[in-house]
Amino acid sequence: MTQLPTEFPDFGLTPEQRREAVRGHYYEWPGMDGSSGEIWAYSDRFSYRPGETVTLFVSATAPQFSLAVVRDGDGETKVFEGAGMAARWQDTPDQCSVGGCGWEASFEFRIGDDWPSGAYRVTLLAEGRDGNPIRSHHLFIVAPLPGRKPGRLLQVAATGTWLAYNTWGGSNHYQGITGPNHDQYATTVSTQRPWCRGFVVLPKDAPRVPLEVAVPPKTVPRYPHMEWAFATGHSKKYASSGWASYDSHFFRFAERTGYQVDLASQHELHFSPEILDFYDCVVFVGHDEYWTWEMRDAVDNYVTRGGHAARFAGNFMWQTRLEDEGRRQVCYKYKARAEDPVYRGGDITRATNSWEAPEIGRPGSATFGLNATRGVYAGWGGCAPRGVRGFPVYRPEHWAFAGTGIYYGDLLGIDSHVYGYEVDGLDFEIRGGLPYPTATSGAPDGLQVLAVGMASQVEESADIPIEDQFLTDEDGRFTAETLFGEASDANLDKVKRGNGMIVNFPRGKGEVFHAGSCEWVAGLLRQDAMVERVTKNVLDRYLGKS
Ligand SMILES: [Fe+2]
Repeated sequence: MTQLPTEFPDFGLTPEQRREAVRGHYYEWPGMDGSSGEIWAYSDRFSYRPGETVTLFVSATAPQFSLAVVRDGDGETKVFEGAGMAARWQDTPDQCSVGGCGWEASFEFRIGDDWPSGAYRVTLLAEGRDGNPIRSHHLFIVAPLPGRKPGRLLQVAATGTWLAYNTWGGSNHYQGITGPNHDQYATTVSTQRPWCRGFVVLPKDAPRVPLEVAVPPKTVPRYPHMEWAFATGHSKKYASSGWASYDSHFFRFAERTGYQVDLASQHELHFSPEILDFYDCVVFVGHDEYWTWEMRDAVDNYVTRGGHAARFAGNFMWQTRLEDEGRRQVCYKYKARAEDPVYRGGDITRATNSWEAPEIGRPGSATFGLNATRGVYAGWGGCAPRGVRGFPVYRPEHWAFAGTGIYYGDLLGIDSHVYGYEVDGLDFEIRGGLPYPTATSGAPDGLQVLAVGMASQVEESADIPIEDQFLTDEDGRFTAETLFGEASDANLDKVKRGNGMIVNFPRGKGEVFHAGSCEWVAGLLRQDAMVERVTKNVLDRYLGKS
């Protein structure tokens, strides 16, 4: 394998800027580019069917703009362009992240009947105040028309997670300008705003979250992805979510290797669950953290009836609720027990808390075999920064590994670094050199653990001062409180040591395969032959080709 550098990459930031890059709150907002001017756009929905009309909402400092729409698959195909469309600067409410921008419609176009399902990138171009071009990118999904699709894959984009991380307008489910002091994360986020910079397109050299550094002894953690974001004017969260960092890599792999693949948003699962029944295999990839109850029902029912779910994704963590026909996503997260109204007389099973909160009664493992609270961080910050880069394999004889030549104890995907940065796991024990889920793990009947790596829910080093840590034990304390009622040291000790797994299990007439890592797509992006082979083994079996 290639030798890792022993120093962090340098993007020209001062130590103060590096600190701000990680700890500061910076985001996209109308007016941010000052005298050069800006153009921004969003659409009325995340996804459309052929024949439907896309409404674009545009705000620009220029009086007119041009636009190109490109299908972003293995190749790029231009499907639409226009020039000389009228634009104007539109007022944006302070809490647009929460309630939407509320701009007036600027432009409409019809999705052609022959536009194949997939992701479509909209590039808007105008002249800045200083005469230089200004541009921005938007993305929408063309979902497939109804009808059986034998031999085709359906990929479901992790749009709930895109929305949760979108920094445009100042607030998301992580940080924000919401609340009386303008300093709180938003418990409601709107689809009616542009995507942040780096969610639609990224340069090839944009760092991923897991470290590509052989970290020297006693080193204070650094975060190249956030430093790069700060240095280049991209979203602080570009590497955490979005089409460009995650979902696109599976879609391009699938097309490049000859699969017929359609794309849907998670909203389809919620509002049109029957879409799954048109397919023999449905795929979920990347950082896939936010789901509704109804989305899970869709997958569970599909698999029970004989469907096949292949999840190459990590961090199945939070229940969300949708409002306003899906235009608002609600997730109280850490504040759920204190502030989510369902705790004061609503249906508590719909609490927007961790799926493993006992009052919800539906751990993530009941759908995809693994739990987010038993997994979490690996390969970055102070969470196993020198940990395994691939999945440690325990059952190399499993059909998923056929043709790879992999051995017991090998690390699957080590060269492409598929293990991290958030992984999903189960409580387990080793007997006779093989991992088994414990009786209280929540694993579905018949689940086989194929691979297990270590992960951590807290940053913990005896040699690195606490003030130099970023993740700290905050998430671990939350999990301790959520699972055991109190964020005590004793409960933290029960939850802080996590793991990431590959598992496989039957349900009803169907089956689930789950490689529980956000970074599986890095193996497809970097064309790691072994990772590609395992992915194809799963897809081919589930499509009935092998
Ligand atoms: Fe996450």
